[in-house]
Amino acid sequence: MYLRGMVLAGLGRHWIGRIRLALALLGLPCTVCTPGIRPAISCSPSQCFATSTCHLYTTSVGTMPSAVCPHIKSRCPVYPGSKIKRFSVPDDKVSWGQSWPQYSPVSYTDPSITKKPAWADLDVGAFSPKFNALDGKVDRTSFEGNYTVEKGKPLNPRGRTGVTGRGLLGRWGPNHAADPIVTRWKVDAKGKKISHPASKKPVLQFVSIKRKDCGEWAIPGGMVDPGELVSLTLQREFSEEALNSLAASPAERAKIHERITKLFKSPGFQVYKGYVDDPRNTDNAWMETVAVNFHDDEGSSVSELPLQAGDDAGQVRWVDVDSSLSLYASHSHFLEMVAKERHAHW
Ligand SMILES: *[C@@H]1O[C@H](CO)[C@@H](O)[C@H](O)[C@H]1NC(C)=O
Repeated sequence: MYLRGMVLAGLGRHWIGRIRLALALLGLPCTVCTPGIRPAISCSPSQCFATSTCHLYTTSVGTMPSAVCPHIKSRCPVYPGSKIKRFSVPDDKVSWGQSWPQYSPVSYTDPSITKKPAWADLDVGAFSPKFNALDGKVDRTSFEGNYTVEKGKPLNPRGRTGVTGRGLLGRWGPNHAADPIVTRWKVDAKGKKISHPASKKPVLQFVSIKRKDCGEWAIPGGMVDPGELVSLTLQREFSEEALNSLAASPAERAKIHERITKLFKSPGFQVYKGYVDDPRNTDNAWMETVAVNFHDDEGSSVSELPLQAGDDAGQVRWVDVDSSLSLYASHSHFLEMVAKERHAHW
């Protein structure tokens, strides 16, 4: 999953965000996530920059957002889950096109990666990866096109990050994730759509999970397994997160599983596909994702999932889609695109 703290139904978390921002501005270490878990979406980019002047925009080609400004979270001063300080990269030196002989990035690969878990690559030199290609079952192609490989190591297509090696990421080059955004209409007791008083537009709700590792609310995404179709990753991650949290009987589980399978068989609306500015990115390893919206328009499939259930350690909820949600920048943008697509309140 990705990261983010958000404002949940009136539980004002703005002040927490401000404190985090203040800490980030003071350069204090701002990480609370536990390293050592398999990286999916990292926990809290907001730990690095609660706000950013970097906006995603919609290109003339259609709905594909692109970052218009260089690495923000990928230059987060302290690398997540560590005390490693990134080499400071000014805006005008992010691009590899800018020659910068003084650039002296820190090399860092987290112990969770160097202990060689099955899902991670070996060190460059210890194996022969096929970059920019489907390497056996591992997809090493980038949505951004071919990336440069220098001295055996892939170069981040969006430029410098102040750290070399893989940090918390298992793969050299692109690390592919998938973000399922499951939505329904917010309805009253009689099943009538509820419109927002200000926009007069119907309100969407999306499935959000509270991450066990760091307590942040998130879209329930995860890493694409080797050889796995993205469509399957989307369903698997959603099912694991949503179902595991439910105190349901085997019969209820089977019914829920069937409904989820049906919803994920629908085409879905592809919200984004590409590079993600993630605090775990390095000069040699980075996150890419495919975000897809699956919408239960009739309210007949997953809308009835009793998502309030679950223990404290991993909750799943329906959360109103609204521009005041303080999510990780790109996630907030994903939801905005979903709201626009569905003619819903934002
Ligand atoms: C990208 O790299 C692959 C692998 O090196 C190569 O086969 C392919 O021709 C390259 N494509 C382009 C457009 O350069």
